[in-house]
Amino acid sequence: MFKTSDGELTVTHDDQDYTFPTVTGTEGDVGVDISRLRGDHKKITLDYGFANTAACRSSITYVNGETGELRYRGYRIEDLAAKATFPEVAYLLINGELPTKVELEEYEAELRGHTLLNEEMKAMFDAFPRGAHPMGILSAATAAMSTFYERYHDPRDEESVKESTVRLMAKLPTVASFAYKKSIGQPYMYPRNDLDYSSNFLYMMFGLPVEPYEIDPVVARALDVLLILHADHEQNCSTSTVRLVGSSEANLFASVAGGMNALWGPLHGGANSAVIAMLTQIDQDGGDVDKYVAKAKDKDDPFRLMGFGHRVYKNFDPRATILKDFAADVLERLGVNDPLLNIALKLEEHALTDDYFVERKLYPNVDFYSGMIFRSLGFPVRMFTVLFAIGRLPGWMAQWKEMIEDPNTRIGRPRQVYAGYQEREYTAVDER
Ligand code: SDX
Repeated sequence: MFKTSDGELTVTHDDQDYTFPTVTGTEGDVGVDISRLRGDHKKITLDYGFANTAACRSSITYVNGETGELRYRGYRIEDLAAKATFPEVAYLLINGELPTKVELEEYEAELRGHTLLNEEMKAMFDAFPRGAHPMGILSAATAAMSTFYERYHDPRDEESVKESTVRLMAKLPTVASFAYKKSIGQPYMYPRNDLDYSSNFLYMMFGLPVEPYEIDPVVARALDVLLILHADHEQNCSTSTVRLVGSSEANLFASVAGGMNALWGPLHGGANSAVIAMLTQIDQDGGDVDKYVAKAKDKDDPFRLMGFGHRVYKNFDPRATILKDFAADVLERLGVNDPLLNIALKLEEHALTDDYFVERKLYPNVDFYSGMIFRSLGFPVRMFTVLFAIGRLPGWMAQWKEMIEDPNTRIGRPRQVYAGYQEREYTAVDER
C-alpha cells in the first residue's frame, strides 16, 4: 500500500510502516529515496534492468516516454536538429549552455587543433585483422588513447577533464576513419582543418590521397543532424556504463571505452545495423512484411523487429519521427531509391495497427530509420554503430562529468538477492 505526502512515501508491510523521503524533479517526476532501506530495515530492492530505478539526479537530458519528448539542457530535440550544429550541441551538453558565436568559434578552433592522432598510435591499427569490426577497433583505440594522455587522467582536475573531452571529441572521427580505411585496405586520410566537423569526417572516410574529394553539403548536413539526434539520451545502457566505470575514478578515456562496448550490443547501438539486416532479409524474402511481424509476435521465435520498442518511449521516439521525414528528403535529394525504405514504411504501418505492438506500445525508435540514412550517405553497415558512438560521445562525457562533480556520487556497487546453495561441506575429489 503506498501513501505519499510532501517529500515522503510510506509503505506498509506486515503491519509495519516503512517511510522514505522522496525527491521531485523539475518536470514533476518523483523518486523514492531508498538509501536507508538496508541500513534501517535490512531489506533491499530487486529491479532487473533497473527499469524502475534512478541511479542519479541529472540536469542534462529530459525524456518523457509517454509524450515522446526529448530535450538537451531544456532545448527541444526538434529545434536543435533543425537549427544547431553538432559541435554546438556538444558544447551545450558538456557545458550546460549554448555557446555564443565567439565561444563556438573558439571551441571549433580548439577541436581542429587536436584532430591528429599521435603517430605512434598508427601501429595499433595495423595490428588488427583486416576484417576487424570497427567497434572493436574504436573502443580499443579509445582506451589506448588514455596511455598518451596520462597527465589528464585525474577526474578531479577540471583542466584535465576539459583537455580530455576536447581530445576525445577531436580525435574520435579520425580513429573511426582510420578503422574504416584499415578495413578496406586504403591509406589513412589525415584530417583537414579547413573543414567543419562533419565535412572533415566525410573527407577522412571517403577521400583518397590521389584525387580531390568534393564535400556534398546535403550529406554533410545530414550527418550533422544524425550526430545531434544521437548525442545524449539520459541513463541508457551505454551512458550508465560510462557512469559506472567512472564512479571508480577511472579516467574519461577508459570510461568512454566501456560505454562503446555496451553500445555495441544489438539491443542498443548495434540495432541500427540489425535493422538493415532485417529489412534486407524481408526484401530478399519477397517483401513479406506480414510474415516477419508474425515471427516477431511468436514467443517461440527469437526474432524481434529491430528498431522497434524502447525501455522509456511508450509513444513515438521523437528522433524516429524526425528521421522518418529526413530519410525521405535525403534519399530524394541524393537521388537514392532504396527499396528498404518502402519495406520500412510498410513494416511501420503494419506494426502500428497490430494489437501485439499497440498493447506493448512498441513504436519505431531512433535506430529504425537512422541506418537507411547512414547507408544513403555511403557508410557501410558495419560503421553504423561507430557513427552512433561519435554522436553519443558528448553525451557520455557530459554525464561522466556530472557524475564526477555530483557530491552524492559513490562508487557504483549494486546488491543482489542470493539464490545459490546454502553452506555445504567440501568433499575430496575421490569422494565425489
Ligand atoms: C537504443 O535506452 C535508450 O535510451 C537507448 C537508446 C539511446 O538513445 O541510448 O534510445 C538507443 O538502444 C534504442 C533501442 C534499440 N534496440 C532495438 O531496436 C532492439 C529491438 N528492441 C528490443 O529488443 C526492446 O524493445 C528494447 C531492448 C529496446 C527494450 O527492451 P525492454 O524495455 O526490456 O522491453 P522487453 O524486452 O521487456 O519487451 C516488452 C515486451 C515483451 O513482450 P512480452 O514479454 O510482454 O510478451 O515487448 C516485446 C517483448 O517480447 N518486444 C518486442 C520488441 N521489443 C519488445 N517484440 C517484438 N519486437 C521488438 N522489437
